[in-house]
Amino acid sequence: MTRTVYVNGEYLPETEAKVSIFDRGFLFADAVYEVTSVLDGKLIDFEGHAVRLKRSLDELEMAEPCTKDELLEIHRKLVELNGIEEGLVYLQVSRGSDGDRDFVFPPADTKPSLVLFTQNKPGLANSPAAQKGAKIISIEDIRWGRRDIKTVQLLYPSMGKMMAKKAGCDDAWMIEDGYVTEGTSNNAYFVKDGKIVTRPLSNDILHGITRKAVLRMAAEAQMEVEERLFTIDEAKAADEAFTTSASAFVMPVVEIDGVALGDGTPGPIAKRLREIYLDESRKAAV
Ligand code: PDD
Repeated sequence: MTRTVYVNGEYLPETEAKVSIFDRGFLFADAVYEVTSVLDGKLIDFEGHAVRLKRSLDELEMAEPCTKDELLEIHRKLVELNGIEEGLVYLQVSRGSDGDRDFVFPPADTKPSLVLFTQNKPGLANSPAAQKGAKIISIEDIRWGRRDIKTVQLLYPSMGKMMAKKAGCDDAWMIEDGYVTEGTSNNAYFVKDGKIVTRPLSNDILHGITRKAVLRMAAEAQMEVEERLFTIDEAKAADEAFTTSASAFVMPVVEIDGVALGDGTPGPIAKRLREIYLDESRKAAV
């Protein structure tokens, strides 16, 4: 089925949507993005994604393409036009272009490019992958130093995912100066003796919207949470581990660098948090 996508004010069949070859997103990865999940045809944590988008834009001195209310309307319309019950909405804003390639930013009044499309993912909430749990490898983190800004510079995370696939695994966690930063497209956690450990927020990791919600729900469920740096060896010696992201919610991790965690199946805390997260998010969806 041909999707209807959104490009700079227009709803078009995906085959007719166009962006300039001079667009700075295309030439310089000068663009930021958000991925918002859809359950029961409704948006999960739209507010959180809109606030983070604004922050990414501000950090890069990029203009806002439209208001938050307009963004919500575009998201909702695309979900409706494409009949999405479970899936994702991808949004990208680039600095646009003034019609040539130049390292210098174009004038501040250059129109940003705004592109959104949906990805239909029936069964996202009940995914077999989450029932099995993910096997991960560890790799060096060689990304730039502003990972708190959600830019489209995703070549290294994409290569990390490929390294994992080649090793017969599902994903990679990245390590910098001896400590785990995050997964290729998710935040990373381990659980030891009932305590959930995850890296604190800084410029070194993306400030996950799912992370924020899950940590709040964990605290509400009287689970103990510690935000501190941790090594991959601590994670390998853990009782269980998991990742969080808008596209996979809470994903149990069952193996790290060939070492099985616990009995090698998804742990009770990861499973419980996934249930709570899906439940609460569905209730708050818009
Ligand atoms: N990725 N860390 C990185 C590097 C990410 O790319 C993501 C999200 C996260 C989790 O953030 P959130 O909970 O807000 O989704 C952490 C999205 C899903 C993606 O690139 O597809």
